[in-house]
Amino acid sequence: MSTVFASVGTTLDGFMAGPNARPGNPLGDGGLTIHRWVFEIDAWRERQGLPGGSGEHNASAELVEENFARTGAYVMGRRMFAEGELGWPDPPPFRAPVFVLTHAPREPWVRQGGTTFHFVTDGPEAALAAAREAAGGKDVQISGGAETVRTCLNAGLVDELEIHLAPILLGSGTRLFDGVDPSVRLTPDRTVATPQVTHIRYRVG
Ligand SMILES: NC(=O)c1ccc[n+]([C@@H]2O[C@H](COP(=O)([O-])OP(=O)(O)OC[C@H]3O[C@@H](n4cnc5c(N)ncnc54)[C@H](OP(=O)(O)O)[C@@H]3O)[C@@H](O)[C@H]2O)c1
Repeated sequence: MSTVFASVGTTLDGFMAGPNARPGNPLGDGGLTIHRWVFEIDAWRERQGLPGGSGEHNASAELVEENFARTGAYVMGRRMFAEGELGWPDPPPFRAPVFVLTHAPREPWVRQGGTTFHFVTDGPEAALAAAREAAGGKDVQISGGAETVRTCLNAGLVDELEIHLAPILLGSGTRLFDGVDPSVRLTPDRTVATPQVTHIRYRVG
């Protein structure tokens, strides 16, 4: 059985995005700083079609490589998708099927490099079931945003949560854990720290 893992970046005060997030202002005001650690590493730059050779290869890069390698399909929320629809290159960085949770039906959107966005209107269980089927034995990654991760945590659908904790404060925006049932248990099983970010992986139960 493949593992369902959520992998998201947050600030020290718990935000996944700053205020005023919308297509054209991805991650909201100040929110791109949450991912600053990833922008200069080789594994991420290669997936974005940027010159990978100029990127840094460090402990974070190895985690990003591991993350891409283990993932056979992705699940994300429609608001995350709507921002990325404008900003992702073609081919997009996923190189695998992506299942977008939404209440608005839409035909699949086929991009280059193995990424097709499928729009799922019958809830997170259905999105994850379709992703598992498509993943061909690999793991399923929930990429965000906050509402999607929260919904899946509360429904007991997440096996693992990896937080990429940026050493910054935003003060306002969209928090990951607002509305998460406090009975959700998170047990740390790996921590990798660099000066730019601390990656903490939790088993969820
Ligand atoms: N820091 C990070 O690592 C990270 C990662 C990803 C995203 N983000 C940021 O997070 C923000 C988006 O997060 P968000 O919490 O606002 O939204 P989101 O989780 O990306 O998307 C929420 C949308 O998903 C759909 N949805 C959620 N639950 C559903 C259900 N049970 N059934 C059907 N559809 C469902 C709905 O779409 P409809 O409205 O279409 O019905 C809902 O409006 C963006 O600013 C993005 O940049 C940050």
